[in-house]
Amino acid sequence: MKVLHAAAEVFPLVKTGGLADVVGALPQALVRAGADVRLVLPGLPAIVDAVLHQKTIVELGPLFGAGRIAVRLGTMPYSHVPAYVIDAPYLYRRGGGPYQASDGSEWPDNLQRFALLGWMAAHLASGEIDPDWTPQLLHAHDWHAALACAYMAAHPGNTASSVFTVHNLAFQGLFPQQDFAQLGLPLRYMQSHGLEFHGQLSFMKRAWKYAQRVTTVSPTYAGEIATHEFGCGLDGVIRGRGAEVSGILNGVDGAVWDPAKDSSLTARYSAKDLAGKSRNKAALQKEMGLEVKAGAPLFGVVSRLSAQKGLDLVLAALPALLRQGAQLVLQGSGDPVLEAAFTAAAFAHPAQVAVRIGYDETFAHRLIAGSDVIMVPSRFEPCGLTQLYGLRYGTLPLVRRVGGLADTVVDASEAAVRDGLATGFSFDAATPAALEAALLRAVQAHAQPELWRRLMVTAMAQDFSWEGAAQHYMSLYRSLPGLRQ
Ligand code: ADP
Ligand code: GLC
Repeated sequence: MKVLHAAAEVFPLVKTGGLADVVGALPQALVRAGADVRLVLPGLPAIVDAVLHQKTIVELGPLFGAGRIAVRLGTMPYSHVPAYVIDAPYLYRRGGGPYQASDGSEWPDNLQRFALLGWMAAHLASGEIDPDWTPQLLHAHDWHAALACAYMAAHPGNTASSVFTVHNLAFQGLFPQQDFAQLGLPLRYMQSHGLEFHGQLSFMKRAWKYAQRVTTVSPTYAGEIATHEFGCGLDGVIRGRGAEVSGILNGVDGAVWDPAKDSSLTARYSAKDLAGKSRNKAALQKEMGLEVKAGAPLFGVVSRLSAQKGLDLVLAALPALLRQGAQLVLQGSGDPVLEAAFTAAAFAHPAQVAVRIGYDETFAHRLIAGSDVIMVPSRFEPCGLTQLYGLRYGTLPLVRRVGGLADTVVDASEAAVRDGLATGFSFDAATPAALEAALLRAVQAHAQPELWRRLMVTAMAQDFSWEGAAQHYMSLYRSLPGLRQ
């Protein structure tokens, strides 16, 4: 089965969040499950520079304002998954991030940049770009690649099926309606059943309409987005797709996240030998200038600082955390108000609160390994990966019971503890009081070493491997016409 994955990010080359982790790991798991998988990626500098053995497949004239475009086929470093790189220097080769300039402003030509990604994915899917490899299925990720489904639907010669995965419905790729003319799509695609979304043009809406199947990254989020509360204005369209929408949980890439082999850590450890975990904690406390104190429950956060992640609740619950003699280490970046508030808290309580504003992959590993609890109090969370990394590292997640957080963490209720199922702490209301109550339960459990050890061991035994997720995707692929083999 030949499957082409289209996405804007891929770990470890370009990453702004969990999408990159998924696009880095899922294709490898699908290959292990027997699929013939390739990627198509925009030629961002980190991608053009790192993809190995690139050879030019085709050169094209100007499209979407790109002067010269070459499509090259190479292999991903580390995973060796084949990847088509769209080298369009005028659109992609620049400093800053994949979607934004260094000052945080959106690139003004994102419409053209991601229309090109979708266009190229669709034309690879129809076999016109690389006649040597024609996929039977295009799997597009998030709004950046969503337009591929529109180009495929508009293309009479296309026989490939399409699957669209929503990693985050809150980012839909909205542009001014008058830019529609630049997309080269038939006019009927701009009508209300097409790309039009409340007077704007929506890349994501089109994929919801025309992909044969739509998935999102957890079963609970798949149900939530069909409601007005979580549907971001698309809940009507989502309900309209009925059973063609499903949720498949993300996994953990064990080659990247494994406390027994992780070279970023001070000491490696496993569920059988947990001694190294406390050495990581002491090292983290020391590195961050906190009081080095084994008995102080250490709460960690690794996150984008955005409204989604509910970190204002952590700020509001901070006095309670401090009163308990607990500690907080946070690494994140984003909303300047949250950055300033957490920085001020660290300044006011240097023995108990430490903050690193920024993005640092290696430190994220040390933080997760060194903390006792990883907090993910999100307002909504399609899947969430940090709680999965926490489980694997014996760092108990404290989460709001939404989306993928609800699907992956078993609250340490009396019954769950008794049955040996508990892996963390969950709360329901998005209020400081609810978070505080869960935090106090975590502090109380931490004071009971035998109970805590049992929770850690249960957490570490959870299997959120990509192999399981890949099997679900394979069955979904096989349910499509022409893909049963
Ligand atoms: P989202 O994709 O919504 O940001 P996820 O939990 O799915 O949330 O994935 C976040 C990914 O980004 C994880 O791999 C996490 O470790 C990483 N991450 C987030 N913020 C930072 C940061 N400041 N430094 C390093 N890694 C980070
Ligand atoms: C998005 C979501 C996150 C999910 C990630 C990978 O960024 O916010 O919950 O884990 O995509 O699917």
